[in-house]
Amino acid sequence: MPTHWYNFLGDLPGPMPEVRDLGTPTAAEIAAKVRPRALIEQNGSDEQWIAIPEPVVEWLRQCGRPTPLHRAHRLERHLGTGARIYLKREDVLPTGSFKLNTAIAQAYYAAQEGRTTLITETGAGQWGMSVALAAKMSGLRAEIFMVKCSLEQKPYRRHYMELLGAEVRPSPSTHTAIGRRILQEAPSHPGSLGTAISDAIERALEHPSAAYLAGSGMPLVYLHQTLLGLEVAQQLKEIHGEDLGVEGRGDHLVACSGGGSNLCGLIGPHLRARAGGSDLRFLAAESTAAPRLTRGVYRYGRTDLGGFTPEVLGYSMGESFVPPPNHVGGLRNHHSSALVSLLRREGVLDAVAFDERTALEAGRLLLQTEGLLLAPEAAHAVAAALDVAAKADADNREPVIVVLASGSGFLDLQGYHEVLLDT
Ligand SMILES: Cc1ncc(COP(=O)(O)O)c(C=O)c1O
Repeated sequence: MPTHWYNFLGDLPGPMPEVRDLGTPTAAEIAAKVRPRALIEQNGSDEQWIAIPEPVVEWLRQCGRPTPLHRAHRLERHLGTGARIYLKREDVLPTGSFKLNTAIAQAYYAAQEGRTTLITETGAGQWGMSVALAAKMSGLRAEIFMVKCSLEQKPYRRHYMELLGAEVRPSPSTHTAIGRRILQEAPSHPGSLGTAISDAIERALEHPSAAYLAGSGMPLVYLHQTLLGLEVAQQLKEIHGEDLGVEGRGDHLVACSGGGSNLCGLIGPHLRARAGGSDLRFLAAESTAAPRLTRGVYRYGRTDLGGFTPEVLGYSMGESFVPPPNHVGGLRNHHSSALVSLLRREGVLDAVAFDERTALEAGRLLLQTEGLLLAPEAAHAVAAALDVAAKADADNREPVIVVLASGSGFLDLQGYHEVLLDT
């Protein structure tokens, strides 16, 4: 398992665009209150390799890192493809997703700085489950605002968080001023990541000993997730005897993208090789429920609705956009992160959007061939990989395709059932 995270900010294709931070108080002042100092420093660090604290390495090992890199032979045979398809199995972690990698690290720094409570938002609940577990392991309380429609669709995620002692509240929330305002304007608002981030930050501002943890969208989260890309490179070489980026082959790294953390964790450590001429392609799979990278407008906007975060330049559906309440809770962001948007803008990152049914069909095919049930978010990456393999076959190429299996689908069976079986 890697002992350092890789900070790929120095490998970006251009400078990060300026943020607009004109509120009173400013977003930087808000962040200084609610975020642990070590995390703020990591967010803009210029060190290339950042040592992972020893206790964090130990926890990650106990949780099952490094996770397996699985060659999907049966899927390949079913497709009749010449591509070699690998799945990075983050679904095997105890909370069922890759989110645990950064939850453990962020909880560690919060506890080190004397914070007593972790406050955050969650979409489908995977991030919330990871924070609830990391909080317990660090002796901290957890308070989690979960997007209301996802909370109704996936009650078992709530039960898991509550078993760990976390307080779980639907968002928009009656516990915050921003939540009450949203509910007054739209009483049946289904909630979105924008509402939940706002609820969580407002609440964290009220508690001097609380830390607000970000599940995605920020360099510090991407940094912690670089374990994914680092492990993949090592496992491909040492276990499977594969080199990535061989000339003319068009190897692909594929991940779904909501806030961009499993994607950036996978591709971040490989940006330098691509810029140096490796034949490597990066593909983001998003949901047609919030197709920012494929159909959004490149403009300034915020990821929350309460004005607590700075305005960043990114692909956006606009702040008034309310995503339809489908089962893909982790991909329903209205505004893409500045970093993912920059990669897309500069042509380093391709993107493709799938509707829920197409993605879940791909998830079902993976279950029926490999016996692996992935979360709906991760099923989007599988759908994208199927397209990449078909295209490679048509072009007579035999690439390596690495798909980030970002989470398990066992608590999403209701969604699979409603979309694929209950017709
Ligand atoms: C299983 C799973 N995959 C992917 C995502 C998308 O997050 P990100 O884009 O930050 O990787 C989520 C978010 O909730 C998730 O739960």
